[in-house]
Amino acid sequence: MEIRELSADERPEISLPIQAYAFQASPADDRLAETLRNNQQYYAGNVTLVAEEDGVPLADASAIPMRQNVRGIVFPMAGIAGVATLPLARRRGYARALVTQLLGQMRDAGHVLSALYPFRPSFYQRFGFVGLPRTRTVRFPPECLTDLMRAELPGEVTCEPAKAGYPAYREFTQRLLREQHGFSVLPDYRTMELRDARDRWLVMAQADGEVIAATTYRITGHAGVLAADDMLTANPLGRALLLQFFARHVDQVREVEVQVPAGELPELWATDLTAVTQAKTSFPDSPAPMARVLSLTSLAGLPTSPERVTVEITSDPYIGGRYVLDGRSGSLEITHDAAAGTGATLTAAGLSGLVYGVLDPDEVVVRGFGDIPRDTAAALRGLFPRRQPYLFARF
Ligand SMILES: CC(C)(COP(=O)(O)OP(=O)(O)OC[C@H]1O[C@@H](n2cnc3c(N)ncnc32)[C@H](O)[C@@H]1OP(=O)(O)O)[C@@H](O)C(=O)NCCC(=O)NCCS
Repeated sequence: MEIRELSADERPEISLPIQAYAFQASPADDRLAETLRNNQQYYAGNVTLVAEEDGVPLADASAIPMRQNVRGIVFPMAGIAGVATLPLARRRGYARALVTQLLGQMRDAGHVLSALYPFRPSFYQRFGFVGLPRTRTVRFPPECLTDLMRAELPGEVTCEPAKAGYPAYREFTQRLLREQHGFSVLPDYRTMELRDARDRWLVMAQADGEVIAATTYRITGHAGVLAADDMLTANPLGRALLLQFFARHVDQVREVEVQVPAGELPELWATDLTAVTQAKTSFPDSPAPMARVLSLTSLAGLPTSPERVTVEITSDPYIGGRYVLDGRSGSLEITHDAAAGTGATLTAAGLSGLVYGVLDPDEVVVRGFGDIPRDTAAALRGLFPRRQPYLFARF
């Protein structure tokens, strides 16, 4: 097997057939084939590796140079996408080999973190990835918000085709990237797909000249569903303004459906709101995302509490080894030190679970991601308190 990086102009001929077989209805008719070819512009900056046997491409995988907020600091993050092997070549280790090389290459290029939507979490757990919460779908009839429709709220709402409002929407997502733990954004070449989309409206709430909430959405038909994508909010006023906007569809649609971060509690949004909140996880069609740390020392500077622990990360090609994690100055100092003691032994998934705040040290142990003595657990809990990351970007 030879693995090599594809140039952008090789993508339509070499990557597209493998991707189309794996992810599209097939065989593709002429219209779909044409659309897929045109969409290649949205992948132009991806790093794509292809595995070939005797010059025949059999599998490929891509990384998207993204950015992600972890505990208040924005880091370069590699989004892994489009991992695909042609059917006759499956179960021979091509995907494994591609992902291994891709993660190393992205780490060497300065990507501190990596995230993906897994076809099967157990496959990626062995690569050191840990599960993150998935968004919830909230469904409610618009008539239960009619009280809110009459409320005088100090803000304005605009509604326009997504294409027209794209720059302001993009700017708002960049702001949330700086402010919200776990939030990630795609590079410009990839989000242009939304700018070019004709099938989405964009509603934005503003107060004091600043965008405070936004969501893209579409309406399935008269008496149908107002189906919103992720409801992005900077504060409760922004959320109330969007809900008020949805309520205006009371005589038009039977139901509103919105995607929200895992920590949202719709039952507290408004009085008399009758809503159903759902999070369906299934594979490969409805996965919760996963993420991992690719470079532990690069996390130095995270705001933290005054604890000091030594950890050993076991059997990981990217962050394996012994480290001292020292938060006594108020921001995390990390030293890679082969001679350090081992307060805790962690897999890369266990360490990633602590860093992202999705696992408590006790859960790390219960899940089989490490061995943590009691006093070290307390110190790790202080260094990495529980947080709820919201990944946002889909790729
Ligand atoms: C998912 C997909 C990429 C896997 O590709 P693949 O090349 O078969 O993957 P690998 O061979 O590296 O690994 C798959 C499994 O085969 C096993 N395997 C690898 N080599 C093997 C061998 N020689 N004999 C038997 N099993 C083997 C691996 O251990 C792995 O199983 P495990 O996770 O239980 O350990 C492929 O099935 C596919 O293209 N699916 C459709 C698209 C998709 O869903 N992509 C992922 C979304 S990003």
